[in-house]
Amino acid sequence: MDFWAEQAERLHWDVRWSEVLDWSGAPYAKWFTGGRLNAAHNCVDRHVEAGFGDQVAIHWVGEPGDSRDITYAQLRDEVCRAANALASLGVRAGDRVAIQLPMIPEAIVAMLACARLGAPHSVVFGGFSPSALRSRVEDAEAKVVITADGQFRRGQAVPMKANVDEALAGSAVEKVVVVRRTGEDVPMGERDVWWHELVDGQSTEHFAEAFDSEHPLFILYTSGTTGKPKGILHTTGGYLTQVAYTHQVVFDHRPGEDVYWCTADIGWITGHSYIVYGPLANRATQVVYEGTPNTPHEGRHWEIVQKYGVSIYYTAPTLIRTFMKWGEDIPARYDLSSLRVLGSVGEPINPEAWRWYREHIGAGTAPIVDTWWQTETGAIMIAPPPGSPEFKPGSAQTPVPGISAMVVDDAGKEVAPGESGYLVLDQPWPSMLRGVWGDDARFRETYWSRFTGAYFAGDGARYDADGDIWLLGRVDDVMNVSGHRISTAEVESALVSHPAVAEAAVVGAADPTTGQGIVAFVIPRDAAEVSVQELRDHVAREIGPIAKPRQIMVVPELPKTRSGKIMRRLLRDVAENREIGDVTTLADSGVMAQIAGQKSAT
Ligand code: PRX
Repeated sequence: MDFWAEQAERLHWDVRWSEVLDWSGAPYAKWFTGGRLNAAHNCVDRHVEAGFGDQVAIHWVGEPGDSRDITYAQLRDEVCRAANALASLGVRAGDRVAIQLPMIPEAIVAMLACARLGAPHSVVFGGFSPSALRSRVEDAEAKVVITADGQFRRGQAVPMKANVDEALAGSAVEKVVVVRRTGEDVPMGERDVWWHELVDGQSTEHFAEAFDSEHPLFILYTSGTTGKPKGILHTTGGYLTQVAYTHQVVFDHRPGEDVYWCTADIGWITGHSYIVYGPLANRATQVVYEGTPNTPHEGRHWEIVQKYGVSIYYTAPTLIRTFMKWGEDIPARYDLSSLRVLGSVGEPINPEAWRWYREHIGAGTAPIVDTWWQTETGAIMIAPPPGSPEFKPGSAQTPVPGISAMVVDDAGKEVAPGESGYLVLDQPWPSMLRGVWGDDARFRETYWSRFTGAYFAGDGARYDADGDIWLLGRVDDVMNVSGHRISTAEVESALVSHPAVAEAAVVGAADPTTGQGIVAFVIPRDAAEVSVQELRDHVAREIGPIAKPRQIMVVPELPKTRSGKIMRRLLRDVAENREIGDVTTLADSGVMAQIAGQKSAT
């Protein structure tokens, strides 16, 4: 425990904790009990007070080519104004604020303003549909929603406020604050208020109240094995301790020297922990880029690295594989010599992508830290140290100091080197989730019921002969598409909500670029004409474009066991063009032949 007490010293505490860990209410942990702090003060004000007000916090790059450099002093002023503005709308500690914004500085300012007020934010990815936004806003009972008129995607201005209006029709949300980004006309209703009208005239003085270490900091929804996303709850002191610690040690971050860039979106946990809270707590200078990597050209990221002298670059394997497809001659046109540490997150990185990343981006020498963690873990858990004597392409290798992880068999017994099993975390950690919002039973059932006394991550893993950990992907019905978690059940329920669909089953099939691709099998109602394109669009409308199936097969039947459970294993065999496995447990053994026949017909 001395170890984590030492890490907590990275932060400013208004009141010191009395106990490092109280695990008596397991599986609900309390870290740094009795301690009080303000997360926004830790990420912003204290750096200004320490004399670093003129240091750039954010080099923001807009997709159309506009840019802004924001110093820590400017960031403090903006966060204070926004906090005063939210307070003027009646936002108080404990109230939830939903945020759906593009990657613009206001997104970070809004999150920090909420943190400053002790009002947990719930950020919803900008690509989520109105119905996905609505269910998240309703579940969290958000009082205020912050959004933008629109966002730039691939050179186009696409509407955002219109989606929010659709999502919030008839809802109890009191105020909608709208940032002007694309400048398009948006109807402003009675509860709508422009960000600039509300925020710009506010005072830059705002007292940052210290909150209890266990005060909720944010809720972030993630897909589980059912159709309903889970609101993962994170609290303040432990979370901030572990994100600051890992951001510093895993990336060997040096404030004032490094220029750091994490390419994630703030709609995901990576954006929360490694764009907002970790780097800012560590007084990083970072790049935040609004747009897509090939707008207006495929060298956009490398142009930005060259311009700002980025030294630490953290991205996802799916993007690396996309860069590979675009060709090594593209990064070769830029000076990437400033890069000294590269990171990867979101899914296992295949050795081929690892080698390409190191060779063509890291000049053949940069360490690559493959970081395993989850929305639930809040911060990096498994990663090789950047000074590692030996990197293993494709392995996240070892838990970071302070963290304990194990690979166990069905009975919860640790497996031997060379064997595979399930990844569990057998000791509590500071940034661990503090439950599923409003659903204690689901929290216990999902994470704590499979193995006694240990957190079950949902991932398969194995040890190699040296005892290093290799992640093998999800072992549940959660797909990983371009590093995004999507549940098969969510896509299935979107499909069956279409009038032409009687039944649907969805699997994740290996995909060379996105890791997994979504493959759906649908039984049409009344053998009616179903348009596959229409169904794909329907899923995009229901959940968001990221959930659009790569392929939809229209089939007469689905393979089910006698108890009616769909055998996804067999559907995966079809989707991945493998020989179909054991069918003896099927209720009707002829079904697979029918599906395979159907497939060859399409
Ligand atoms: O399956 C693991 C995979 O992503 C899941 C967590 O997804 P999410 O909560 O959306 O967070 C993603 C960003 C932290 C995990 O259960 N995953 C994440 N990083 C890795 C990984 N799988 C293998 N190697 C990784 N480095």
